[in-house]
Amino acid sequence: PPPRARVLMRTLAAAALAAAGGLGAATLPWRAAIPPIPRPDPAVFSAATLARGEALAHLGACFACHTATDGVPLAGGRPIATPFGTITSPNITPDPETGLGAWSYPAFERAMREGLHRDGRHLYPAFPYTSYAKATDADLQALYAFLMSVPAVRNPTPPAALAFPFDQRPLMALWNTAFHRAQPFVPDPSRSDLWNRGFYLVEGLGHCSACHSPRNPLGAEEKGAAHLSGGTGDGWEAPALTTANRAPVPWDEAAFYDYLRTGWSPHHGAAAGPMAEVVAGLKALPDADIRAMAHYLADLDGPRPDAATIAARAAAVEAEAAARAATPVSLAGARMFAGACAVCHEPGQGGPLHGVRPSLATVTALQSDSPETVLRVILEGSHPAGLAGIAALGAMPAFAEHLSDWQIAELARYLRHRFAPARAPWSDLDATVARLRAGAAP
Ligand code: HEC
Ligand code: HEC
Ligand code: HEC
Repeated sequence: PPPRARVLMRTLAAAALAAAGGLGAATLPWRAAIPPIPRPDPAVFSAATLARGEALAHLGACFACHTATDGVPLAGGRPIATPFGTITSPNITPDPETGLGAWSYPAFERAMREGLHRDGRHLYPAFPYTSYAKATDADLQALYAFLMSVPAVRNPTPPAALAFPFDQRPLMALWNTAFHRAQPFVPDPSRSDLWNRGFYLVEGLGHCSACHSPRNPLGAEEKGAAHLSGGTGDGWEAPALTTANRAPVPWDEAAFYDYLRTGWSPHHGAAAGPMAEVVAGLKALPDADIRAMAHYLADLDGPRPDAATIAARAAAVEAEAAARAATPVSLAGARMFAGACAVCHEPGQGGPLHGVRPSLATVTALQSDSPETVLRVILEGSHPAGLAGIAALGAMPAFAEHLSDWQIAELARYLRHRFAPARAPWSDLDATVARLRAGAAP
C-alpha cells in the first residue's frame, strides 16, 4: 500500500489498542444523534452577545471556509482540498434542513470540541475543531448565537470526495484517539494575563497552527518543537512563526503586532495570499487582543533580539542587497527588474523608503526553499492596501498577462541571487511557473 495508507494502518492499530483499553466515548466509531430543535429565535440573544459572536466568527475564519466564491456568506459550498481528497464546506446558516437551524447549542458545542455532526457522524479535521476545542463556553455560546442570527439560506452540501480508506468517517474516531484532545483552555497561572490571552487566541479560535504547523502523513498537526514551525494553507507556504522563521530580520513583538493589525510590517512586507484573508478577519478584534497575540508569538521559543539589534540587522541586509545589484546573476532578470519592478521596489538614494517602496531584501518568501510564493505574487499581484487601509503602500499589479514563463523565471533567479545571498539558487523555475499558471496543485 502507499506510504500514507501504511502509516494510517499502523496508527489506527495503535489507536484501536488504546480504545480497547477503555479511553471512553471519544473512541466510539458512531455517536448518538442530538435531537433536532425548532430554530432558536435570535431575538433572545443580546446585541452584545451577537457582536462578540460575529468578531469570533471572523477570528475563526468561519466566513473564509464556509463561503463559496461569490456565494452567500456562511452558506457553505467552498471546496477544501486536502491530500486525501476534496471536502466541501457545509452550510452553517440557520436553515433547518441544510444548515444548523435544527442544531441545539449542545450539538454545536460537540461539533466544535469533538468534531461530530449533530447526527453523530464524525467530521474531518479539514474543519479545525482540533483548535476550536480550546474555546471557552462563553465564546462558543456567542458564536452559536451569532450563527443563529444570520439569514437562513437553503444550500445542500455535496458529499466529500475522499479516497478509500479516508472516506470511512468512523475511522476518524481512532484518528481522534491518536491525535485530538478535546480539552478547553486552562490558563497557566505562572504566565501573565497577556500571555494567556495570546495563547488562547492563537491556539484556540485563531487556529494559526492549522496552516503554520507541519502535518504528519495522516493530516494531524505535529506538536512539540514542530508546533508553528511552518506548514501550508490553501496550497501556499505558511512560514514558521517560531525562531525557525527565515526572515532576514528576526520577528519581534512589535513586528508581529504591526503585521497582524495592518497586514504589513516595515521589516517583513505585506500579508499575501490566504494570510491577507486572516488579517482581514482580525480587524474585528480589539487592539488589546492583537497585542496579546503578538506577545505570545514573540515568546514561542525563547526571547527575540532587542530593537537596536533588529535595526542594525535590517540596515546590514539592505546594504548587502544594494551592493549585490551591481553583479546580477541574470542580465535579462536585472533588465526586467529595472523596467517592471524597480519603480516600486528599488530603494531610493539614502536608504529604503519603507511603505512607499517596499524592500524585497527583508521578505521571508525570498528565503524559502520553494520559489512558489514569490512566483505566485508576481503572477497574481498583491493587494495589501485593500485589506488594511495602508494607503501609502499601494498595491502590486498581476504580471501573469505581461510576462512569459521564461521572463518570470529569470526575474525569480535574479531576485533570489540579489536578495537571498545566503541561500542556494532555486531550481526548476520554468516548470514551476508553468504549473502555477495552469493552477495545478503541487
Ligand atoms: C479551514 C476551513 C474551515 C474553517 C476555518 C471553518 N470550518 Fe467549519 N467546516 C469545514 C469543513 C470542511 C467542514 C465539513 C467537514 C466534514 O464534512 O467532515 C466543516 C464543518 C463544520 C460544522 C459541522 C456542520 C455539518 O453540517 O456537519 C460546523 C458546525 C462548523 N464547521 C462550524 C464552523 C465555525 C463556527 C467556524 C468558525 C469558528 C468554522 N466552522 C470554520 C471547514 C472549516
Ligand atoms: C489559511 C491559512 C493560514 C492561517 C489560518 C494563518 N496563516 Fe499566517 N500565513 C499564511 C500564509 C500562506 C502566509 C505567507 C503569506 C505571505 O507570504 O505573504 C502567512 C504568513 C504569516 C506571517 C508572516 C510570516 C513571514 O515570515 O512572512 C505571520 C506573522 C502569520 N502568518 C501569523 C499568523 C497568525 C498569528 C495566525 C493565527 C491568527 C495565522 N497566521 C493564521 C497562512 C495562514
Ligand atoms: C506598482 C508598484 C509595484 C510594482 C510595479 C511591483 N510591485 Fe511587488 N509589491 C508591491 C507592493 C505594494 C507589495 C506588498 C508590500 C510588501 O510585500 O512589502 C509588493 C510585494 C512584492 C513581493 C513580496 C511578496 C511577499 O510575500 O511579501 C515580491 C516578491 C514582489 N513584490 C516582487 C515584484 C516583482 C518581481 C515585480 C516586477 C515584476 C514587482 N514586484 C512589481 C508593489 C509593486
